[in-house]
Amino acid sequence: MSPTRNARVLFNSVPTGFPEPGKTTVYDDTKTIDIEKANLSGGFIVKTLVLSVDPYLRGRMRSPEVKSYVPAFVIGEPLVSHGVGVVVRSENPAVKKGDHVYGFLSHEEYSIRKNLEKLEIIKNEHNLPWSVYVGVAGMAGQTAYVGWTKYSKAKKGETAFVTTGGGPVGSLVIQLAKLDGLKVIASAGSDEKVKFMKSIGADVAFNYKTTSTEEVLKKNGPIDVYWDNVGGETLDHALVAANVGARFIECGMISGYNEGGRPIHNLEFVFSKSLSMNGFIVMNLFPKFHNEFYATIPAKVASGEIKYTEEVTSGLDKVGEVILSVQKGLNKAKAVIKVAND
Ligand SMILES: NC(=O)c1ccc[n+]([C@@H]2O[C@H](COP(=O)([O-])OP(=O)(O)OC[C@H]3O[C@@H](n4cnc5c(N)ncnc54)[C@H](OP(=O)(O)O)[C@@H]3O)[C@@H](O)[C@H]2O)c1
Repeated sequence: MSPTRNARVLFNSVPTGFPEPGKTTVYDDTKTIDIEKANLSGGFIVKTLVLSVDPYLRGRMRSPEVKSYVPAFVIGEPLVSHGVGVVVRSENPAVKKGDHVYGFLSHEEYSIRKNLEKLEIIKNEHNLPWSVYVGVAGMAGQTAYVGWTKYSKAKKGETAFVTTGGGPVGSLVIQLAKLDGLKVIASAGSDEKVKFMKSIGADVAFNYKTTSTEEVLKKNGPIDVYWDNVGGETLDHALVAANVGARFIECGMISGYNEGGRPIHNLEFVFSKSLSMNGFIVMNLFPKFHNEFYATIPAKVASGEIKYTEEVTSGLDKVGEVILSVQKGLNKAKAVIKVAND
């Protein structure tokens, strides 16, 4: 068999402000791989099928001296994100040709891996599309599940406010809150997302770009649980609208990822209303929840009890644009790159 193209997406320079496709990341299709003959040294070759584009990738586009909870991308090396691939050749007895693996994948059409470090074999018993395993049944869904289960202390009849409710994290949070019997107020940045949030049970769904968050919370609050994906001004409004004893789940603060955060003015309510505020990083919490997550969420997705939306873009060459679109909030739903057919 002749060598096969092995295109990749490289980290090229640290962005100042928003990432710039073609500058901060570049698509390179000059490499090839000989799938039959490549030296595996006991490892295996993964053909990449789908890759996830997540907000946190912006945080990895930094200089290595800046410390954070995930390593910086390396200039000149492929990006890495969650993905699903299929094993096309293996010398590792733990991994068979045809197995599907989920975990951190390099942004390459094919990658050689030694073992299952940062990967796991996915059985897909419910025959879901592979993209689902990087969305509602992947890291994003896991984030919603662990954060809500561990920190919401939800009680039937309470009120939750969920931000970026049209995305993969927020939309699962809305559905978990409804399953727990809460009234849900949810915000997102487009009317299409508002429609989706209503369809999955949000009692009050609004477009924060055209409707005042402050007014909505005044009218429909107070809130007992705040799921924060955005930080900034919205967090300030949530602090004002919080009930005594409300739980703030600090999952993300995307309003500050590219242009820096803004000062929060209403933090005094943390003590005066006895609020609890928990931040978390999914990968630190997930191992404890792994088995219950995979035992419940894929089945509920397959039965239609849990709904999701996704925006699938074909081609590794589109990664740069899709990263930017997620940072700008132009993505319509969970952003997925389809790299190849199974
Ligand atoms: N703690 C963890 O371990 C963990 C893990 C995964 C994700 N997260 C966080 O969870 C949040 C949601 O992630 P996701 O994967 O579900 O994202 P997503 O919804 O697929 O995409 C990000 C969304 O953020 C919104 N956004 C962008 N810029 C914004 C701004 N300036 N102000 C307000 N909203 C803005 C946009 O939605 P709108 O249309 O609503 O504006 C955009 O579509 C992010 O903050 C992410 O960092 C945290």
